[in-house]
Amino acid sequence: MRQDHLISATQLSREDVEATLDRAREVAADPGALRDSHDGAVLALCFFEPSTRTKMSFESAAKRLGAETIDMGSVESSSVKKGESLADTVRVIEGYADAIVLRHPSEGAATLASEFVDVPVINAGDGAGQHPSQTLLDLHTIRENHGLDDLTVGIMGDLKYGRTVHSLATALTEFDARQHFISPESLKLPRSVRFDLHEAGAQVREHTELEAVLPELDVLYVTRIQRERFPDENEYRKVAGQYRIDAETLEAADDDLTVMHPLPRVDEIAPDVDETDHARYFEQAHNGVPVRMALLDELLLRAGGDEE
Ligand code: CP
Repeated sequence: MRQDHLISATQLSREDVEATLDRAREVAADPGALRDSHDGAVLALCFFEPSTRTKMSFESAAKRLGAETIDMGSVESSSVKKGESLADTVRVIEGYADAIVLRHPSEGAATLASEFVDVPVINAGDGAGQHPSQTLLDLHTIRENHGLDDLTVGIMGDLKYGRTVHSLATALTEFDARQHFISPESLKLPRSVRFDLHEAGAQVREHTELEAVLPELDVLYVTRIQRERFPDENEYRKVAGQYRIDAETLEAADDDLTVMHPLPRVDEIAPDVDETDHARYFEQAHNGVPVRMALLDELLLRAGGDEE
């Protein structure tokens, strides 16, 4: 990593990604690799928004490394409820832990937290901003199925509010990847993300229908419409359920198409897709453990002054 914190996929060079994913591959192949290598370390889990995968896979990764975890608990049960600021919260928690995993509803929260503490902060999702550790496991899944070059990737669904989309699209600019974005007009990529992709020289096309582009794709990355981020419930209802795939949809796809989803899904991937050879979203979620073991190993070593 170029920095001690992991806040955004813009920090991830191709070399960084390959180094982390090489280590994740070793860990996945050998369950004993890195086992108990961070005995005595403590990881703080600070989740101001719900999570299953990110929180539990970081916890599993930390325990496999021999580290302990401490959990801030829900907003309702913590002193955030009493009005404590994010800056004060993380300044206190840095005294209890060697690294902080932070999820927060406000874009920029992880950047702010990182400015107040010396221990590594890992952005586990900041509103509609970024989710870079998800991107590492997404790239690991793509790499294990297709490699990371000469790729055609379709990203479909909520491109406006989907932080996993913003991080993945950014990271793919480091690789030889053509990116197709499929969404309703109202949920297109934010202008800032489109600008960054353009600046990075990305090969990008935008669509409102999947059908025309589906046969070209190596990877179809489906996302949930992020209901909780819509300021107006009526706007959500206008687009809910529009971008749904099922096994019949995929009959037009290449046999080797990999279907991914950061999960949780609502109705955008029908259960009959689970039975096809295309479905990789549970494998993708499971990849969170070796990838986060590799990431934590790297950040904890660096924070401890043991950079390799
Ligand atoms: N993919 C993901 O971030 O899932 P959770 O919200 O369950 O952590």
